[in-house]
Amino acid sequence: MNKIKILAIVGSLRKESYNRQLALNAKAIIGDRADFMLLEYQDVPLMNQDIEYPAPEAVKRVRDAVRSADGIWFFTPEYNHFFPGVLKNLIDWLSRSVSDSEPQVLAGKPAAISGISPGMSGTGLAQDHLVTLISFLNMEVMNVPRLTIPNARQQLDSQGKLTLTTSYPYLEKQVNAFIDFIQTRRA
Ligand SMILES: Cc1cc2nc3c(=O)[nH]c(=O)nc-3n(C[C@H](O)[C@H](O)[C@H](O)COP(=O)(O)O)c2cc1C
Repeated sequence: MNKIKILAIVGSLRKESYNRQLALNAKAIIGDRADFMLLEYQDVPLMNQDIEYPAPEAVKRVRDAVRSADGIWFFTPEYNHFFPGVLKNLIDWLSRSVSDSEPQVLAGKPAAISGISPGMSGTGLAQDHLVTLISFLNMEVMNVPRLTIPNARQQLDSQGKLTLTTSYPYLEKQVNAFIDFIQTRRA
């Protein structure tokens, strides 16, 4: 069987994003057990039905990445107790049929969710909203374990890099669980 492909979608466009760093920590833990790719989607335009067909090139690219992935791992910040608008915009594009003969690309894909915030919430509320949305879109959500990491700054090194001291074992557990979750569905 081919190596599993996991596509990470980070709900932050910030260069030093904690959530992006969390995704890179997951990639390091996964090692060679799966291909792990971060989706770049800054160039996806705001959803506007006037430009929906034919799909803009950036939308075609993100759809191709999702289509070829065996699992999607969301790493989301929390903005005002919700997940960020950039992520909602991306998912709105992905939620639409590709053509008359091809349905939207998220349905049936295994999905995991994690998030990290500098405050106390650890992104739990944002994750709940995201679960509601991606369940509506028929993704197969791995509800246990989810990972919520509060107080991000307590896990930074002197250069401001996320070292994940206390949260490392929880991320490791989620990595193992998600690989199993995907494998069970591919078997
Ligand atoms: C518009 C906005 C709203 C925010 N709302 C919340 C919030 O509701 N809860 C929270 O824990 N942090 C909130 N924050 C702080 C973010 O958690 C923080 O900026 C975090 O670093 C964003 O994730 P990132 O590091 O991956 O970019 C908010 C930040 C912004 C810009």
